[in-house]
Amino acid sequence: MDDPQHTPETRAVHGARSIDPSTGAVAPPIHLSTTFERDADGGYSRPFSYSRSANPTREMLERQIASLEQGAAGLAFASGLGACSAVFQSLKPGDHVIAPTEIYHGVRTLLDEVFVPWGLQRTYVPTHEPGAVENALTERTRLVWLETPANPMLQVTDISACAGVASNAGALVCVDNTFATPVLQNPLTLGADLVVHATTKWIGGHSDTVGGVIVSANDDDHAKRLRTIQQLTGGVCPPFDAWLAWRGCATLHQRVRHSSQSALEIARFLEGHPQVARVHYPGLESSPFHDLAKRQMHTEAGFGGVVSFEITGDAARALQIAAALEVFTRATSLGGVESLVEHRQSIEGPHTTTPDSLLRLSIGAESAEDLIRDLEWALSN
Ligand SMILES: Cc1ncc(COP(=O)(O)O)c(C=O)c1O
Repeated sequence: MDDPQHTPETRAVHGARSIDPSTGAVAPPIHLSTTFERDADGGYSRPFSYSRSANPTREMLERQIASLEQGAAGLAFASGLGACSAVFQSLKPGDHVIAPTEIYHGVRTLLDEVFVPWGLQRTYVPTHEPGAVENALTERTRLVWLETPANPMLQVTDISACAGVASNAGALVCVDNTFATPVLQNPLTLGADLVVHATTKWIGGHSDTVGGVIVSANDDDHAKRLRTIQQLTGGVCPPFDAWLAWRGCATLHQRVRHSSQSALEIARFLEGHPQVARVHYPGLESSPFHDLAKRQMHTEAGFGGVVSFEITGDAARALQIAAALEVFTRATSLGGVESLVEHRQSIEGPHTTTPDSLLRLSIGAESAEDLIRDLEWALSN
């Protein structure tokens, strides 16, 4: 039952859920079957034939995510980068892509090492600076890629402004909405054509599934092309991962609100700490992105669960602080119930622009009080 009149919280629980007709099971089954029975005449009166093409559990996730993003079509992939790849593959060699200088390093590496050799042209610009996207548009620009808030420095880009100039130039806009989640931001309502998520992060929410999704605003020819790419290149989301990501949607609002509230308290604590040189968090009134975030995000629910900060000192000191934390776990990734800390520069490779004194925190389901005590201890040791 997906009722557009329901609130997002209700749609997060009921958007794709149905009682299993054969058993009455309230929690839906996980459909592992790779293949589905033909009718006596050799046709298929039921919607499924082979799981690479379509699978009931994957489709349940696709409908759920499309509902949360207010889009027309959802597509689930084996990872966040799998979803991003399909968007780039839907372009033609010679097409031009504009992407943010401040971008998840994996997407940048994917563009540089796979899609530039394959024939795409790309230009990196600071998309959060007014006019940067407009100035970079060329006759061949077919895609403007945005990531907001961006990983790991949390710059916020004006989605409507970029969508306006891109659509005038005949280019699509795709927003990586992984950090904001559909709870805090719905790019399709701001003029974007496509949204991607790494469901590995907040949507899965428990650090136990890898996956990605694309949601298209329209079920148009481009969405059909994306579905063809999904089916033929074969990087589909496996049923168990689809089920875990689907289940994560039901508690997404509660988890994101809790993490965002804690993240704001932690950002304020860090901002006042003498060992901290700079805090990157759009929820802080001192952030240059605060007003824009308030305009384009659903900030009544918060500003997101990731906080980055630069310590006064070098990489060695940052690593020492990370090592002294006890409630935070040192690990890459974000969006799980357990809080994580990471020295980003160490993982981002040679092109990184992330300061060596920066630590990124992903705030989980623990209490802010315990996390702040942990940070206080690590910073003073
Ligand atoms: C913003 C963002 N987009 C995409 C991805 C890629 O997701 P995955 O690791 O599932 O491929 C990540 C991973 O960290 C991310 O942070």
